[in-house]
Amino acid sequence: MEPYSETNQVDTWNELTLVYRSALKEINTKFEILNDEFQQVHQYNPIEHIKARLKTPESIVKKLKKYGKESTIENMVAYVNDIAGIRVICSFTSDIYRIAEMLSNQSDIKVIEVKDYISNPKPSGYKSYHMIVTIPIFLSDRIVDTMVEIQIRTVAMDFWASLEHKINYKFEGNVPDYIRDELIACASMVSLLDDRMLSLNEEVRKLEAAGKNKEE
Ligand code: GTP
Ligand code: MG
Repeated sequence: MEPYSETNQVDTWNELTLVYRSALKEINTKFEILNDEFQQVHQYNPIEHIKARLKTPESIVKKLKKYGKESTIENMVAYVNDIAGIRVICSFTSDIYRIAEMLSNQSDIKVIEVKDYISNPKPSGYKSYHMIVTIPIFLSDRIVDTMVEIQIRTVAMDFWASLEHKINYKFEGNVPDYIRDELIACASMVSLLDDRMLSLNEEVRKLEAAGKNKEE
């Protein structure tokens, strides 16, 4: 058998969708394993749920056009870093950083970029933790390092982001000022809620631990 070659070459549309779909499966499994392990060790699930999606051909072409690039397979791989996207919804903000760090430390994962919109929210009020990573996909004759965009956010941040996205879509970007302001106000309520839910959870865990100590 031929040895694996290390080229990152993806030549056809079918190959492209194959490697990105595979990358989504790999990353999804990694998050599921971390979640299962947490369940065993700490008796709780940091991850509420995971959503994975492949960018549609139309959106890929649209993005390349925006960048002034021709729609070739090569350009798609080179310039569109969210062909494979995975969204991880956590219960608490602290879980986001824990999960992100555990994934980053895995030896087959290369972190290309991190954008922490939790400590630095966007002017819109948007909060999430973004990572661009690559993961090696093993094909029959070669290994393709494949890019995945990961968004990690709390349930509350996700609630906000989906409504904001819908509103932006409805107004085609021209959202009236008073609605924009209301969204920003809601975003600070989301942060407040996340902080209070985290404190509440920590309080309950302290009580639980104290109860267990008494039993022993
Ligand atoms: P694109 O916006 O995808 O061209 O990439 P970028 O380089 O600006 O990256 P960024 O990390 O800012 O955004 C990537 C993705 O995060 C977007 O495609 C959205 O899914 C999400 N996102 C970023 N900003 C917002 C926002 O203000 N509101 C919502 N609802 N989603 C956002
Ligand atoms: Mg953007």
